[in-house]
Amino acid sequence: MTDDYSFATLDLDDESEENTARLTGWLDAIMRGFHQSQPNDEFREKWLAAVRRDGAVNRGAWAAPVAGLSNDVPVATLGHLVKTLNAGDAILPAWMITDVTVAPTHRRRGLMRQLMTENLCAAVSAGAPVAVLTASEGAIYQRFGFGPATREARVRVDTSSRFRLRDRPDDGGRVVIVAPSEAWPLLEKVFARHHDVTRGSVGRPTYYESWLQGYDWDEMSEDRKQRLAVRLGPDGEPDGFVAYAMKRPDDNGEVEVRDLVTASAEALLALWQFLADIDLTEIVTGPAPVVDPLTHALVNHRVRRVTAMPDHLWVRVLDVPVALEARPWFSDDRMIVRVVDGLGHADGTFAIDASDGRAAVTPTSAAPDVTLDVETLGTLYLGDVTVDPLARAGRITGTDDAVRRFGSLADGSPAPHCNTHF
Ligand SMILES: CC(C)(COP(=O)(O)OP(=O)(O)OC[C@H]1O[C@@H](n2cnc3c(N)ncnc32)[C@H](O)[C@@H]1OP(=O)(O)O)[C@@H](O)C(=O)NCCC(=O)NCCS
Repeated sequence: MTDDYSFATLDLDDESEENTARLTGWLDAIMRGFHQSQPNDEFREKWLAAVRRDGAVNRGAWAAPVAGLSNDVPVATLGHLVKTLNAGDAILPAWMITDVTVAPTHRRRGLMRQLMTENLCAAVSAGAPVAVLTASEGAIYQRFGFGPATREARVRVDTSSRFRLRDRPDDGGRVVIVAPSEAWPLLEKVFARHHDVTRGSVGRPTYYESWLQGYDWDEMSEDRKQRLAVRLGPDGEPDGFVAYAMKRPDDNGEVEVRDLVTASAEALLALWQFLADIDLTEIVTGPAPVVDPLTHALVNHRVRRVTAMPDHLWVRVLDVPVALEARPWFSDDRMIVRVVDGLGHADGTFAIDASDGRAAVTPTSAAPDVTLDVETLGTLYLGDVTVDPLARAGRITGTDDAVRRFGSLADGSPAPHCNTHF
C-alpha cells in the first residue's frame, strides 16, 4: 500500500526554492496533524532555525500529485533529533522521535508504521541505545516496543493563608525576578544542572530557548504574560527557575506555572514559597513531579491537590546491555533476563551481574529467571513502575522467588521526573 508514495528526508541546509517549499510543506503537515493554526512567516523562520540547531531529521511521505494542485505538503511526517537521557546512573544518547502525523485522507494505510520501523532501524544503525517519545494517545506505540516510563502530575495548590512550609534551615539562597530578555544564560545553566541530577530527564530541543524568553509557539506571537523567577543557591549560582503567568488577575487570582526546573529540593521549595508569596493570588496550578518533596514539606499537605497524572515520556530500549548498564540496580545479584522484542532490536537473553548499585549486562545462552517484553522493559526502565504490579499483570513471568529477586534488583529511588515536552 505504501508503494504509492514517495518518501524523502529533507535537507535542512538546502535553501533551494524546491527544498524550501517542501520544508514549509512539512511544517504545514505537522501543524495540521496536531490541530494547530497554519504557521505564519515568523513562526516558519523560528521553527527552521530551531530544527537546524537541533540537527533534526525530518522525513515525510508524499502522495502522487493531483493535476493543478501543489504537492509540497507530505501526507505523513516523522522527525527525530538526538539529545540525552539521564538513565539514573549515566547519561545516554537518546533518539527523540517527534512530529508523527498522518493526514486524515491517508490514515491506517501503514504510513506511520513504515516511517516508524525505518526510523528505529536508523536509530539502531546510529548506535542509539534508547528511543523516546511522548504520545498523544495511549495505544499507538506499544506495538513498536515503547512503554510509558514517566508520568507528570498536574497540581492545584491553594496558596492562600493555608499554604505554609514546615520550618527548615535557611541555606542562604534567594529568589530573583528576571526579565525574559536577559534570563536565558541562567535558565540554560539551571536546566543543565537539573538534567545532571534528575533520573528520567531528557535534553531540551532548541525551541525552549525562545519559548522561555516569551515566544508563544501555540499563538505564534510574542507572549507578554510570561514571567520568570530564578533561585540563586547559597553559592550564588542558579539552581532553579519558574516560568509563570497570571491566569486570572483578580484579588484571588490564579498563577499558572508553565515550567518549573530545579536542581535541588531547596530550590524547589524556595520557588514554591515565592509563588505562594505573590499577592492577590490564591491558587497556583501547573506541572509537578509525581514524587514531589513539596507534598512532604507542607504543614497541611491537602493544599496540594493532584488534578491529573498523564503518562509523559515513553522509552524504547534498543541496546539492552548499554541501556541497562546506565541505570541503577539495588541489590547484589546475578539474574538472567529474557527480553522479547517482535522487531528484533532488543530481543535476547541477558545476564545482569549487579553489585554496589551498578551492573554488567551481557548476552547469554543461560536459561532465564524472568521473561518480559521490550515494552515492559521500557516501562520498568526509569523506575516509575516497580516489578510487582507488572508481574501481577502477567507482564513479567518467572517463579515467585525469581520475580521477588528481580524486584529487589530493579526497584529503588529516585523516582524519575521528565519535564521536557517535545
Ligand atoms: C496516529 C497516526 C500517526 C497513525 O498513523 P497511521 O498511518 O494511520 O498508522 P498506521 O496505518 O501505520 O498504523 C499502524 C498501526 O497502529 C495502529 N494505530 C494507528 N493509529 C492508532 C491510534 N490512534 N490508536 C491506536 N492504534 C492506532 C493501527 O491500527 C496499526 O495497527 P496494526 O498494524 O498493529 O494493526 C495518525 O492517525 C495521526 O496523525 N494522528 C494525529 C496526530 C497524532 O496523534 N500523532 C501522534 C503523535 S504522538
